[in-house]
Amino acid sequence: MPTISEWASGTLTNCAAALFSCLCPVLLLLHRGVSGAGPDRTLSTYFRKSGSLTVMIKRSFESGFCRSGSPEVTASASSSSADTGRLPSAPARMPRVPPDLVADVRSDHAGETGAVFIYRGILSISGDQDLRRFAREHLQAEQHHLSLMDALLPAAQRSRLLPVWRISGWLTGALPAIFGPRAVYRTIDAVETFVDQHYAEQTAKLRDRPAAAELCALLEVCRLDEVAHRDDVRSRVHSAPGRVARWWVSAVAHGSRLGVAMARRY
Ligand SMILES: [Fe+2]
Ligand SMILES: [Fe+2]
Repeated sequence: MPTISEWASGTLTNCAAALFSCLCPVLLLLHRGVSGAGPDRTLSTYFRKSGSLTVMIKRSFESGFCRSGSPEVTASASSSSADTGRLPSAPARMPRVPPDLVADVRSDHAGETGAVFIYRGILSISGDQDLRRFAREHLQAEQHHLSLMDALLPAAQRSRLLPVWRISGWLTGALPAIFGPRAVYRTIDAVETFVDQHYAEQTAKLRDRPAAAELCALLEVCRLDEVAHRDDVRSRVHSAPGRVARWWVSAVAHGSRLGVAMARRY
């Protein structure tokens, strides 16, 4: 359990960093400059870190959910091995995001950024050991998703409002953490329910576009992860929400919808 001084210093640091990032355009430019160095966009590097993702992508192709018109793509995904933890015949680079889907993926990148900061917010506030363990596990998954989105989307195409998504994500985790684990789990339920629908809308658009089959499979992998996260928190809360909780959950859902609409444009 963190001491009061550790908690205070962590919280103050997070708040100060978030506010400065939001309010100071120079920091924003610096941030974009640093991001402009560009992520490692090779698939092999990403998949070396995430064997389970490889297996899920393989299943996504095998299930026929995302149809590939290219025999090479299907063959390479189907021949991948769970033992090696990467796609042996994977294309050398991440799937290209078609121009008409950049806004969608930008909103995904913004959302995964917010998700990472939700768990950082929880960890900044809560001293509950079970909740901290939960937050650390979910943080790891969201960091994987963000790495994937980082690799998919060049810095120049990402949301210009990333500092806003970091702050709002942090607050979405930190505020319910003040009230305890159940408030956090209900918040995550609301977020993941929204994100499941958000990814499902995108994969529904993509599943009949053979040229975007790999992107479809990657987004389906993320969606399935979010569904597992939602089911995890639902299994942890067994009481009906009160009026304040219902209001908060509704605010989170509306906020998520607004965030996606903004991230698609800016
Ligand atoms: Fe995620
Ligand atoms: Fe998630």
